[in-house]
Amino acid sequence: MTTQSNTGIRRATFDDLDAVVDITKANKHYWTPEVDGKEALARFLERNSNVFLVSDGESEILGFIVGSWDGARAIIHKISVRPDAHGQGVGTCLVESAIDEFKEMGAPTVGVTAADGAREGENDSTGFWNKAGFRLIPAKLMINFDIWDDEDEN
Ligand SMILES: CC(C)(COP(=O)(O)OP(=O)(O)OC[C@H]1O[C@@H](n2cnc3c(N)ncnc32)[C@H](O)[C@@H]1OP(=O)(O)O)[C@@H](O)C(=O)NCCC(=O)NCCS
Repeated sequence: MTTQSNTGIRRATFDDLDAVVDITKANKHYWTPEVDGKEALARFLERNSNVFLVSDGESEILGFIVGSWDGARAIIHKISVRPDAHGQGVGTCLVESAIDEFKEMGAPTVGVTAADGAREGENDSTGFWNKAGFRLIPAKLMINFDIWDDEDEN
């Protein structure tokens, strides 16, 4: 049941970043400072092919969504809603608003790197994405965590 209105969604600013990090930590899906930390988010905010939206609450933000458009594909990287605001339609509004931004950029489709609950402390978000119109495809996200070798650091 969606109760939140899309009018509360706005673009994130640098002033939102502490609250964004707090929400990620409250949902136990703050993984690394290189990806989820304030400095990484600030760099993300500076690039105009990125989408970074927040949902305003009465005094603090209720949640955020981040994604990017590479000229061919649009990908949602992360969404997080304050635990005490779950189930009120905030997540749906954030996804709908991000999709609107990607459509304005010219994206034909939108994908998501969805949490599937396999990591400790993480929930399976597949049902949420299904309700938002996303379909599971046969692919695995693979990451090389070791792209900086000794020569790069010299
Ligand atoms: C997943 C998340 C963003 C959903 O946000 P939300 O504001 O609670 O979602 P909504 O209220 O818009 O829910 C929309 C629908 O999805 C359903 N839903 C929400 N989370 C769900 C989940 N984990 N599994 C299955 N269904 C879910 C809701 O019940 C609702 O269904 P309805 O329309 O039939 O009532 C939020 O739970 C969250 O921040 N979780 C922790 C972080 C996370 O897992 N992020 C996603 C991975 S990047």
